[in-house]
Amino acid sequence: MLDMQKGNIVIIGSGLIGRSWAMVFASGGFRVKLYDIVKEQVSAALEDIRKQMEELKKSDMLRGTLNVDEQMSLISGSTELKETLEGAVFIQECVPESLELKRKIFSEIDLHINDETILSSSTSCLSPTKMFNGLKHVKKCIVAHPVNPPYYVPLVELVPHPETEAATVEKTYELMKNIGQSPVKLTKETDGFVLNRLQYAVISEAWRLVEDGVISPRDVDIVMSEGLGMRYAFLGPLETAHLNAEGFKSYCERYGEGIKRVLTTFGPVPEFSGQVAESIDEALWDGELNKEDQLNARRDWRNACLSRLAKLKNEMKNN
Ligand code: NAI
Repeated sequence: MLDMQKGNIVIIGSGLIGRSWAMVFASGGFRVKLYDIVKEQVSAALEDIRKQMEELKKSDMLRGTLNVDEQMSLISGSTELKETLEGAVFIQECVPESLELKRKIFSEIDLHINDETILSSSTSCLSPTKMFNGLKHVKKCIVAHPVNPPYYVPLVELVPHPETEAATVEKTYELMKNIGQSPVKLTKETDGFVLNRLQYAVISEAWRLVEDGVISPRDVDIVMSEGLGMRYAFLGPLETAHLNAEGFKSYCERYGEGIKRVLTTFGPVPEFSGQVAESIDEALWDGELNKEDQLNARRDWRNACLSRLAKLKNEMKNN
């Protein structure tokens, strides 16, 4: 049992990501307090979480060993910040992506926590330095960046502020492991962290290939989902290369010159607007069907795929 299991996990912001974090922590047996400034948002979140858990149970995808009622009994909602923070051992902030808003809420939290509480942000791209500078408890501050939806995609990028204590990183790492997520540690901050830097490299080359008329938007997605992605769900790009030759060095010797030649033909950073954006957008909708229905159906399908993939990955780990 982790020390943290004796206290509360506090989630600040009960939107998309806050709800997911609450479910992940409750599935690990942690007591969770879900805080939001909007009262209706808290009750909607609790209702939505129960609904999601019941659907997960039906399809045998509920995480953890506790049943829905047991997991729900671990989660409570609140709109009183000071009271919510009493007994908090770990705080996961999930308010909208605004530096000003996050700094405001951190400075308030900073006043009400003790020296042991860890303050973690879900930010996708804000700099830990800018967010946490000047806080009294800066040593306890860290970014734990999840991937949407965190219930199905376990990666969490841990990014320290330059003054974050090593123990904060280690405790957060252990906590994430304990709830079944897959944390990685960045030793310092870099714009976009790691996941988005890799993702942006792929998106920009996909854009350029479509812009140059080399391939259609639908086909470029197939290259990933039926090709590269088949391996990448299990192996990263470095081990993929390692296995495609007699080790990574041998891969570099065999293919390095060719890779360098191709890389020099990559174009400039795309504008991400205009005609190319229009044509990719058009290609991704399915005819005249209602757009919201399409997105919801496709997201449900994606979640079902990710959940099955998570099961397969677990089975393969144990083989
Ligand atoms: P969201 O808009 O769904 O939820 C934000 C919630 O924060 C709302 O419930 C809102 O009422 C609440 N809120 C606003 N001001 C507040 C305050 N002062 N105190 C307490 N609660 C407040 O946003 P979402 O998508 O959940 O994103 C939250 C964070 O997670 C952002 O930093 C985002 O970058 C990050 N993130 C989002 C991902 C995504 O795919 N949506 C993926 C990974 C990280």
